[in-house]
Amino acid sequence: MIDTVHQLRCTGCSQRVTQREARSNFRCADCGELFEVEYPAWSSTSVAVHAPALVHANGSHYELPNGLGAPSLPTQPRTWMPNASALRWLWKERRHSALPIDQSGVWRFRELLPILENPNDAVTLREGNTPLLGMPRCAQAAGMERLLAKHQGMNPTGSFKDTGMTAALSVARERGFEWVACASTGNTSAAMAAYAARAGLRCLVLIPEGKIAWGKLSQAMDYGALTCQLRTDFDGCVRVLAEVVEHYPIYLLNSVNPYRLEGQKTPALEMAEEMEWNVPDHVIVPGGNLANCSALGKGFQEMKHLGLTRTVPSISVVQAAGANPLYTSMQTSAGRELTPVHADTRASAIRIGSPASWRKAVRILEQTGGFCEQVSEAEIAIAKAEIGREGVGCEPASAVTLAGLKKLVKDGRVKPSENVVLLLTGHTLKDSEYTIEFHRGNLLSEGEARGYESKIAPLRSEMPVLDASADAVLRVLAAGVS
Ligand code: F0G
Repeated sequence: MIDTVHQLRCTGCSQRVTQREARSNFRCADCGELFEVEYPAWSSTSVAVHAPALVHANGSHYELPNGLGAPSLPTQPRTWMPNASALRWLWKERRHSALPIDQSGVWRFRELLPILENPNDAVTLREGNTPLLGMPRCAQAAGMERLLAKHQGMNPTGSFKDTGMTAALSVARERGFEWVACASTGNTSAAMAAYAARAGLRCLVLIPEGKIAWGKLSQAMDYGALTCQLRTDFDGCVRVLAEVVEHYPIYLLNSVNPYRLEGQKTPALEMAEEMEWNVPDHVIVPGGNLANCSALGKGFQEMKHLGLTRTVPSISVVQAAGANPLYTSMQTSAGRELTPVHADTRASAIRIGSPASWRKAVRILEQTGGFCEQVSEAEIAIAKAEIGREGVGCEPASAVTLAGLKKLVKDGRVKPSENVVLLLTGHTLKDSEYTIEFHRGNLLSEGEARGYESKIAPLRSEMPVLDASADAVLRVLAAGVS
């Protein structure tokens, strides 16, 4: 029955397939593009090929309590629009529930992601429900009147990947797969390994040897993944995995899997809920494989379409200058073509030269009026230290958002009075080596730091080694070492 509730729409040629018809690499058999999940009853993109079945399928697990669904208008007999205020009430009520799926910040919104036969079977670690934090010092640093950060690093495995993984891994288990797999710069593998362990599935991780942060590698091992380090970069791992899934019954959990994005759209719903069903003017996200920006965009667009909110924020993407294929594509061809680059940045999570979802990213930039920026290694390090000084902290890849915002404000693309939310994608403990090297003064080369010395110096925390005496500590206090 679930195949009548949702279908997969090719974002290239608009062909529709059921989940069982999708190929193991999640690319369209005709045009090679990626799919997105579409709900025939209410998606704005739908053609109503399956909608009548949905109308008859009102006994499904997604039926709303009495009165939550509004009957369709006579002029639109095949659609079914949920009642926005009833949904808002229901989602809030679930915060008081003891049911695991109600305690999840993803499945709490399950009416907007009806992808499982039975949502009670969802594999959940109570992901989501992350804080939206005021960032007054970072606002000042960026020249903004105010600034918010949605901290997705506060998820169970420390990154935004958990919201997508609960969705796609639950689909994998429901479909009876024994093995799941991903290529990763670290966070996807940590999330996949954790959820696979919870579900009792085996999981294969392909990571580039020596190029992911230890915190993330240790998580995959801790959660029991078969972790293969390949002598290549992330893009090479993706190529190898594409071949593996052709030859082995293994479910691909990279972000080409459209169910991942259904989970990753829910922070948009949380933001709207936290802002009393208003949305920010602008949301800024880091860009790596370029799926998350479109996931959030989908969330905001669906909310507007369903009458839950009135507007869609601009969504901007920031890349590290050393891994900037989308930025270059936007500059040279307005996003029509993308030439892969050799990626090199210390923000290892986004060290990606050939992003799979770049066309989806271009589309969301165009549809929402967002920008694509790039930032240098020094700009990333400074922004990360500034976010740390708020008592918030994040991993390097997340800090590109603040660094990029500074540029957007400086040249007037974002006004100081706008309501901006930075999406902080990973926890500061994911890459503590980066942080320690920054504070020791060993992170950046002289060339990278040139011109930024006066910004870096006050952000560095001292770590003096002292004799074990109160006198020694008191002398340091008197000298005012921060
Ligand atoms: N921020 C963090 C902390 C990430 O781990 C990633 C991606 C991104 C941003 C970029 O998101 O790929 O949707 O544009 N990490 C992937 C991984 C690639 O394997 O963990 P994106």
